[in-house]
Amino acid sequence: MKISASILAGKLTALSETVPGFEKSAIDLIHMDIMDGNYVPQISFGEAFTSEISKLSDIPLDVHLMVKNPELEVPKYYQFKPYCITFHVETTNFGIRLANEIKSQGIKAGISLNPGTPVESLVPLIPYVDLILVMTVEPGFYGQSFVKNGINKIENVRKLIQGFDVELEVDGGVNPDNIKELQKAGVGICVVGSALFKGGNPNESARRLKALTS
Ligand code: DX5
Ligand code: ZN
Repeated sequence: MKISASILAGKLTALSETVPGFEKSAIDLIHMDIMDGNYVPQISFGEAFTSEISKLSDIPLDVHLMVKNPELEVPKYYQFKPYCITFHVETTNFGIRLANEIKSQGIKAGISLNPGTPVESLVPLIPYVDLILVMTVEPGFYGQSFVKNGINKIENVRKLIQGFDVELEVDGGVNPDNIKELQKAGVGICVVGSALFKGGNPNESARRLKALTS
């Protein structure tokens, strides 16, 4: 299981000390939650802050765009050569074109869906994307509880992507009590926020989570 550390859940003013301490053996990706105050009510950070974080570690970035008009935002993140750029299926009518543009930069294209969005919305996009990010909380905050039908939905997405070279990532409410079940459901990357940072040392927390899935 790969762990993508959601730094939104860390102490933002201390990240210049926290992020350089991330160990590659524990933390596979650094998850950047970009929120525009429009698609989601909250505003988090954008490309300037992402630039600062990218200078603090060699660990690849996992860019999660919770923004309207993703066509305008996506190109701002090419410069960081992230592992992937993920946009929400609810935010564009031109997802195929956007996924192709991301892939033309040599970056994986991801598509995300909210808990309330049916899995069928993914079907036209699956042949064009490299990754599906299933939200298991409503986007906006860290520290929320995993939604009730989350595992069932992940299993349904897994069925839809059978035969395609698509990674399955989950975001929201991942913790030591559900990570094994997520692995069994076919998840390959878990975004983890509060369960990494609330316990003190994110490397140790990530290693404990990985050990539960090995
Ligand atoms: C929610 C964000 C998540 C969040 C995860 O809008 O996309 O990445 O920070 O935090 P936890 O693991 O605490 O749910
Ligand atoms: Zn996220």
